[in-house]
Order: sequence, then C-alpha cells, then structure tokens
Amino acid sequence: MRRIAVLVSGSGSNLQSLIDAQQSGQISGAQIALVISSKPNVFALERAATHGIASRVIRTADYSPAEYEKALLNTLTEHSIDTIVLAGFLAILPQGVIGAYRGRIVNIHPSLIPSFCGKGFYGARVHRAVYESAVKLTGATVHFVDEGIDTGKVICQCGVAVAADDTPETIAAKVLKIEHQILPEVVAALVADRIEWVDERPFIRRGEEIG
Ligand code: GRF
Repeated sequence: MRRIAVLVSGSGSNLQSLIDAQQSGQISGAQIALVISSKPNVFALERAATHGIASRVIRTADYSPAEYEKALLNTLTEHSIDTIVLAGFLAILPQGVIGAYRGRIVNIHPSLIPSFCGKGFYGARVHRAVYESAVKLTGATVHFVDEGIDTGKVICQCGVAVAADDTPETIAAKVLKIEHQILPEVVAALVADRIEWVDERPFIRRGEEIG
C-alpha cells in the first residue's frame, strides 16, 4: 500500500478531491496517510481531522532552512511516506526533500504551464494575470516537482475558455473545478505506476492508451 502525504496551505479543496477519490476507489492501492500544512488553523487541517488523517503544521518561520528540511524529512519518514502531493502548498520545498522523493512528488498549478507560472505566480495572482493578458484559454497543470519553480515535467493539463464576462474570480472557480478532476487522475496513475515516459515526457496510461 502506497502512503501519500498531501502538503497544503489553505482551504484544501484539492486535498478533498483526493480524499473523495480514495473513498470512491479512483485512487486505489494507496492511502492518504498524512497532511502537512505550512500554516496553522487552515481549513485543510479540519478536512484531515474529519477524515481521520494524521496532520502536522510545519512552518518555515519556525526553523532555519536546514532544520526545516530535516523537520519535513523526519515527519515524512515517521509516517512511511512514499508519494508527495503539493496541493495549494505555498512554501518552497527544500532541495533535500525533492532529491529524496524525485519522481514521486507532483504539484497542481492553476494555469497552463509554461504560461502564468514561476516566481510570483500563485493563487489569485495567476488568474488576475490571465484576465489582464486577454488570453482566451487557461487551465490547470499537474507536473512533477524538480528544483525550479513550476519547471518539472508536465504530466497532465486541461484547458478552460476565458469568456468576455469572466472576472479573475470566475476564472479561478472554473480552473479550480478542473484542478479537482486532473489532480486525482494523476495521483491515481502515479500510485498505480501508470505514468509512462516517452522521450523524457511523462504520459498517463489509460488501458491500452497513453496521453
Ligand atoms: C488552488 O488553485 C491551487 O492550484 C493553488 O492554490 C489553490 C488552493 O486551493 N496553488 P485548495 O487549498 O486546494 O482549495
């Protein structure tokens, strides 16, 4: 049984989509075993408690960089975690954690990478930038995590149209809906070893098809 840690900083609606997918059987052979929050008192922690999932708050401000890395690694090891999902996690993951879990960490980003990503593009800022740029298509991306900001290989993307009457807030809501679909899909594939590499590009295998 794979053991997943979900790292959060806020409301945890993406965490909820993973809990729902575990309960429905979409994610099988794996258990959400731990929630780590970079902030105290966030709703994601209540969701974890409601579902009997162990949780810890680990704040960067409480540690030196080296101690922060150690605190995360120790906590992940204590809970025998083998897969990490960043779901609205706003802290920077230390290099030691990325190295220890390479190929087993994914992140959800609320735009179509490589657009509207990288330093400073998080949360509502992404959707405001999408709105102001007048692009007609945005969406969500799930990608592997490497040492850069939003630079890891893209696993899955889904687009949504931006309409004339959209606002940054309605764009965010449309994208969040997409996030809740593609994140469980990718995590289900990851824990079932259904991600295949073709010329250094990851694809999800669905039955006989990959894409
Ligand atoms: C999501 O849009 C996520 O992609 C972004 O922050 C938001 C967090 O949502 N990075 P939630 O905490 O999962 O509800």
